[in-house]
Amino acid sequence: MFARRNLVKALLALPALGFLKLVLGYLGSNPEGRVPEFEEFDLTKPQGGEEPLLGNQGLAWLVRDKKGSYALLNRCSHLGCPVRFVPLESSFSCPCHGSEYDLGGRVLKGPAVRPLKRLKLFKVSEARLKAGLTIEAGPEFRL
Ligand code: FES
Repeated sequence: MFARRNLVKALLALPALGFLKLVLGYLGSNPEGRVPEFEEFDLTKPQGGEEPLLGNQGLAWLVRDKKGSYALLNRCSHLGCPVRFVPLESSFSCPCHGSEYDLGGRVLKGPAVRPLKRLKLFKVSEARLKAGLTIEAGPEFRL
């Protein structure tokens, strides 16, 4: 009887251990436990043609064109899923519910109704740019 009660307690603790492992895993990958404020772009990374460059943490895209560079938050404006670049269509697509955006972040297809957020971009060095993840830039902003 006593052993059965202990077994039940141990089984009830398993989900809690899984949650604890998840939390410790997150803290281990983010030792300071803070939400990043900036995304960095390594301009020395190989990049195909006019393809946007995904930031080092996967949190923003860097788009470069003839007029300059700008950064777009890698979060769909519908419900926040990360978007993917679709090379054949030169657009961004959301895998969650199918929203599509052009390279400027404007909505091509819903359910999203708002564009991808354009972020303020800063030059760190010739090989590195940094985007402020909470610093929104105007729709025409370029560096
Ligand atoms: S979260 Fe992207 S379309 Fe819904």
